[in-house]
Amino acid sequence: MTRFDDHQLTAEVIRSFDKTRNPRLKSILTELVTSLHDFVRKTDLSFEEWNYAIDYLTRTGQACTATRQEFILLSDVLGVSMLVDAVNHRERDGATQTTVLGPFYVGEHRPTPHGSDISTGVDGEPMFVRSRITDLDGKALAGAVIDVWHADDDGFYDSQKPSYGKQGPSLRARFIADHDGRFSFRTILPRSYPIPTDGPVGELIGATGRHPMRPAHVHFLVQAQGYEPLITHVFLEGDPYLTSDAVFGVKDELVSRVERHDEPLMADGERASGPWHVMTYDFQMKPGTGVVPQPLLSAAE
Ligand code: BEZ
Ligand code: FE
Repeated sequence: MTRFDDHQLTAEVIRSFDKTRNPRLKSILTELVTSLHDFVRKTDLSFEEWNYAIDYLTRTGQACTATRQEFILLSDVLGVSMLVDAVNHRERDGATQTTVLGPFYVGEHRPTPHGSDISTGVDGEPMFVRSRITDLDGKALAGAVIDVWHADDDGFYDSQKPSYGKQGPSLRARFIADHDGRFSFRTILPRSYPIPTDGPVGELIGATGRHPMRPAHVHFLVQAQGYEPLITHVFLEGDPYLTSDAVFGVKDELVSRVERHDEPLMADGERASGPWHVMTYDFQMKPGTGVVPQPLLSAAE
């Protein structure tokens, strides 16, 4: 019977990948085993801890449903999602900065008319969003496809609610940029909100004494032919959680001033019943290609 000391074991496992035909797979598996084995040696991992890790990952998988992705959430709170973002977007060349997709992109493929209110029936202070999509030289990208989504005043996305299947999208829409690259819509002012803490990720947040809050933001996914898909958020200036986002997703360039208005008539001519707001933020696209994330489920399903 062959016996290995712990370093020989690592070398032997890596050797077992020798016949892997895909060179990238071979290299990733080699690095993964090297890092995992180093981790076990450095921490002197006990059987109890190893069993706990297996159980934790099992429960993380079991918490995933058609509308909930606990593994993305785990990747987010451990900073892995932002690290993958960083290594893939080292040079922006003036293009808009990127950030995490998050677990609540579920896709909405029916284009919505410009100026629509995507917050019908939802409580909150009205906010008008005006935006333009251009290339790095300021040329309008007519026909760019823009998906937007954000949480309600209680911190929930439409897809987290049991009513989603019946009621369809809310605070979520797709727009197509006009001839000048512009699009606009009405919604409600987003608020900071906690990431879901009722699963294994919540255990981790609790055990480490962290808070679960994300600063207020609107998600944008912009796609244009010949350009890298842009996955980003626009954060609201002044939010108290900008410096301690639970998922490390804030970049200074993505923080925007949202103008507060108290005039009696709002931007769409409707009478205001309180303060209303205007967010103006333009996006610059980088030439190239890239993978567009697959939604968890289609809103049309
Ligand atoms: C979000 O902003 O939707 C989000 C991102 C990462 C983890 C949880 C939520
Ligand atoms: Fe979000």
